[in-house]
Amino acid sequence: MLLKTEALSKHFGGLKAVDAVDFHINQGEILAIIGPNGSGKSTLFNLISGTLPPTSGKVLFQDENITGLKSYQVAARGIKRTFQTTTLFDQLRVVDNLAIGRRVNTQTGFWDALFRTARWKRERDETVGKVLELSGFVGLANKFFDFVSTLSQEAQKRLAMGIALASEPKLLLMDEPTAGINLEETAGIIELIRAIKEAGMTICLIEHKMRMVMDLADRIVVLNYGSKIAEGTPAEISENPVVIEAYLGGKTVA
Ligand SMILES: Nc1ncnc2c1ncn2[C@@H]1O[C@H](COP(=O)(O)OP(=O)(O)O)[C@@H](O)[C@H]1O
Ligand SMILES: [Mg+2]
Repeated sequence: MLLKTEALSKHFGGLKAVDAVDFHINQGEILAIIGPNGSGKSTLFNLISGTLPPTSGKVLFQDENITGLKSYQVAARGIKRTFQTTTLFDQLRVVDNLAIGRRVNTQTGFWDALFRTARWKRERDETVGKVLELSGFVGLANKFFDFVSTLSQEAQKRLAMGIALASEPKLLLMDEPTAGINLEETAGIIELIRAIKEAGMTICLIEHKMRMVMDLADRIVVLNYGSKIAEGTPAEISENPVVIEAYLGGKTVA
């Protein structure tokens, strides 16, 4: 078990956006979090990633209590979120964005850079190697020197994943990784997410596209009005009457 929450809650005034949620993420799996709009999925991510402090409850990561840590402290422990494309540096090139994503892993300071120390050289070589490898992995090798502003939506999503991977995280949180792209592009991103998992990464994703979730997830957690109403394999969830009723309004999943 990589991450676990205990009775995690976030209340906004009288609104229970996340209400006493217990769930866990196993090492190496893809866990999908689904639920209707406003059911608390993004808020749950905000609580885990340190973007918002919880009202009550706990977040444990690798047995460490990380509840209430700031987002940079959570990131330093290896929990990375793939951001919307707006956080890309669109005046820069693909290579620069990946190198910046890598920056958290390097120790080089001002004096190292000024005097071109051995450490500076070693880290520069590591960064170059890593950035090259990553650009190939996310399918952007042929766009290495392209400016972000010229990339398609799909390519920007690939880059966002590359940036998250650049810091070699232990857990990737993806909030609707295929929002705003077409069917064909979605298939490409699904393939990439699968490759990321196969490379050993643990992934927790929020997703609306039911086909994609059923296809990709090892397990699914279902939220409704801030509460966890079900948890199980895609097959179990698609047959769960509570889920079908609450989430799908009586329609079948597939
Ligand atoms: N910062 C906030 N302040 C007040 N209410 C919020 C805030 N963030 C989210 N909410 C409310 O919490 C509920 C859950 O929102 P959210 O987690 O974004 O849902 P989801 O991602 O499942 O669509 C919604 O009713 C939303 O309006
Ligand atoms: Mg959301």
